[in-house]
Amino acid sequence: MRILVVGSGGREHVTVWKFLQSPQVEKLYIAPGNDGIGHLAESEPRLERVPVRENEELLALAEEKAVDLTFVGPERSLSEGIVDLFTAHSQAIVGPTADASRLESSKAYAKDVMVDLGIPVAPYRHFTDPEEAKAYIAQCGYPVVVKADGLAAGKGSIVCTSEEDAFQAVETCMVERKFGASGDRVVVEKRLYGQELSFFCFTDGKTIKPMAWARDYKPVFDNDEGLNTGGMGGYSPNDEVDPTLVSRIMDEIGLPLVHGFAERYGITYRGILYIGLMLADEPDGLQPYVLEINVRMGDPEAQVIYPRLLTDFVDISVAMVNEELEGLAYEWTNDYYLCVCATSGRTKGKKGWYRGYPRRYAVKKPIKGLESMSADTLVFHSGTCWDDERGQFLTDGGRVLSVVVGDPSLEKAGQRVYQELEKISFEGMHYRKDIG
Ligand code: AMP
Ligand code: GLY
Repeated sequence: MRILVVGSGGREHVTVWKFLQSPQVEKLYIAPGNDGIGHLAESEPRLERVPVRENEELLALAEEKAVDLTFVGPERSLSEGIVDLFTAHSQAIVGPTADASRLESSKAYAKDVMVDLGIPVAPYRHFTDPEEAKAYIAQCGYPVVVKADGLAAGKGSIVCTSEEDAFQAVETCMVERKFGASGDRVVVEKRLYGQELSFFCFTDGKTIKPMAWARDYKPVFDNDEGLNTGGMGGYSPNDEVDPTLVSRIMDEIGLPLVHGFAERYGITYRGILYIGLMLADEPDGLQPYVLEINVRMGDPEAQVIYPRLLTDFVDISVAMVNEELEGLAYEWTNDYYLCVCATSGRTKGKKGWYRGYPRRYAVKKPIKGLESMSADTLVFHSGTCWDDERGQFLTDGGRVLSVVVGDPSLEKAGQRVYQELEKISFEGMHYRKDIG
């Protein structure tokens, strides 16, 4: 099999690593990838990095290299219609179409669809006028979350503690336009309390199977303080998720969403479905509410879920494309995998002090210590670049790399990850100390 993986983050690094475990993979292209993945290609002759990122260029690459199957990581390529384009040219590809990807690319649309299908979500309204949004906030009388409607790399939801905070969040999205056109509409939603869970399903459009779940830590600082990020770390599996809860999530959310979307909206959803949940502690037990739908794997959830997967990833991908999921059994290790992301924190850059990811951050800081990682520790690169002259990696993004350890005990996995992280250093390095 000749496979093409699309994307450039830590999620794509682990996806490539997972595909390469399959003896069925004869050639694997990653586009555009990153320098960490490029480094892997030096010792893996089956892997080749190709520096293209636009959908048309990716199609030309797939055709030229006679790729058998393309696997898409990032939401942007999906919402820009890569699946529609490849399918129109008879190229096999895993992922939802542009229409289906609206479940992620418009939070307002996703909420309206879910309410229509009877799926539990927090009370909300959406607005294109900042004054109307503020008037709603003033009268609703409970803490809210203000969300830019469109894509914002995980940073577009502002969890507010006061009315002033919420007004400011409306200004940030709609007036200062921090997220560009993505914030021209905002969703104002009741703030829920409980434990978050990222729940993943595989679906071929007909069969939908629960896959795995992970806890993701979104806020930048310990104890969930500070701004939301794309994810600072996580672990899988989660002990609070028992078979009864899985059945409820499937019956109340996963199945009605995929089936209702097809029946009422005429849209077939195929690929990975990421259901972002709040498990609210209510008098009659844990109640799952959907906070968000994403149309792809999570980052860093992929870094803790894919290492647990024992089934050949090629078989799963092929089954999703060929509508053969029903007959596919897949297996997981019982070990816990835990991931901590090292990010570019507060440091001095060319134009003075930067507060660090998810705000402005400096780049091109040398990363030391990668060579001293233990053999069974996994390191996946997100924002790094290779410096030929110095012969070392430099930082090149907000999330720089993730360190992942598997262990039969979650506590030990946590201890081991933090021991490994202490071996790495770069100027301004920041990571959460409380993952797991
Ligand atoms: P979203 O952009 O909708 O995925 O939300 C990003 C993050 O904001 C979530 O993972 C939660 O941490 C937080 N969040 C979103 N909606 C709510 C809500 N209704 N109540 C509490 N936290 C929320
Ligand atoms: N970790 C959250 C996301 O991938 O959206």
